[in-house]
Amino acid sequence: MYDFDKVIERKGTNSIKYDREKAQDPRIIPMWVADMDFETLPEVKEALVRRASHGVFGYAAPTESYYQAVINWMETRHQFHVEKDWIVTTSGVVGALKLAVRALTQKDDAILVMKPVYYPFDASIQLNGRRVIECPLILKENHYECDFDIFEKQIIDHDVKMFILCNPHNPIGKVWTKEELYQIGKICQKHHVYVVSDEIHMDFIYSGHQHIPFYNVDPAFGDFSIICSAPSKTFNLAALQTSNIIIKNKDMREKFQDEKNASGMSDPNIFGLEACEAAYTFGAKWVDELLVYLADNIQYMKDFFKERLPQLKVISPEGLYLVWVDMRSLGLNKDELETLMLEKAHLWLDEGYIFGTGGDGFERFNVACPRSVLKQALEQLEKAIKE
Ligand SMILES: Cc1ncc(COP(=O)(O)O)c(C=O)c1O
Repeated sequence: MYDFDKVIERKGTNSIKYDREKAQDPRIIPMWVADMDFETLPEVKEALVRRASHGVFGYAAPTESYYQAVINWMETRHQFHVEKDWIVTTSGVVGALKLAVRALTQKDDAILVMKPVYYPFDASIQLNGRRVIECPLILKENHYECDFDIFEKQIIDHDVKMFILCNPHNPIGKVWTKEELYQIGKICQKHHVYVVSDEIHMDFIYSGHQHIPFYNVDPAFGDFSIICSAPSKTFNLAALQTSNIIIKNKDMREKFQDEKNASGMSDPNIFGLEACEAAYTFGAKWVDELLVYLADNIQYMKDFFKERLPQLKVISPEGLYLVWVDMRSLGLNKDELETLMLEKAHLWLDEGYIFGTGGDGFERFNVACPRSVLKQALEQLEKAIKE
């Protein structure tokens, strides 16, 4: 059994979650950025120590065993068939989104996103001089849906060239079904819209739901789409900056690769390669246990809100370790809500408004932390709200 209850001191480790100024007040519990407070699995640590103690850090490239580890993980966990040639490594998924935007669209082109969504999607589009077009998701009771008529209308009206999909969808915790993905894919295919499917959270799926890689929806979808994957969320390796971008279509892959070369993004980091290979080779049991722990954390949070803060609504996550909470009933504007969280509850969260349209009045909690920390955070929140 792995110990996810262990509290690990992260201050003083160059952590953006713990070492930035906002986290310096000792009462602050940071639950914003999507990294976990858990130690990764022992085999990953051992692989890194082994490589570090070798002491020679010359240029590195993925080996055959690296590619096999990625391919096997996708096959066994997701019944997703990937070929070695389809994999392009990058130093992050956000970097890959930017490369895809530059490789496959032109300046001023329209790129569609669903809102609310992980905020670097907008930045990846705008920083490259493209236009963001939005398809708002609709909150029905406790889950979000896409109106496919609006989705298609936005594509037609704005002559959209690319759609960036988030599956599972950060911050709302939605795991897209095969039927939904089929509709998305068919509409994009019909209007010659490239799909970039960010599947970085693919391994965090809860009971009753299944992750469907975009290529598994319909064999034709591989002709016009890219799948972004990484071991970074699953195994808590974000700072090792290693992602695997899966591009079946040769022409798209060459354009992406050319853009990668032109951008100055270099070969992968040796530690990222070691960690990714070890994680995908030895990490299945660790992830299984982690998922049980996270599901219990989410249940604990849902029960807490139900009993002690019933005016706040938890959008029950189907995937992710990020929990989206509707706080609109408090009647606070975005600055007041942020002040309440930070200065009264002493919680550093990702504010809903940063995720764009539909995010105002919501807060995103990262619950990938020991239960004792979650409990403390929720008690601080209750006290602040009741005061
Ligand atoms: C949907 C999504 N994509 C990408 C990332 C970040 O990826 P990377 O660190 O590989 O750039 C995150 C991190 O939270 C995310 O939620």
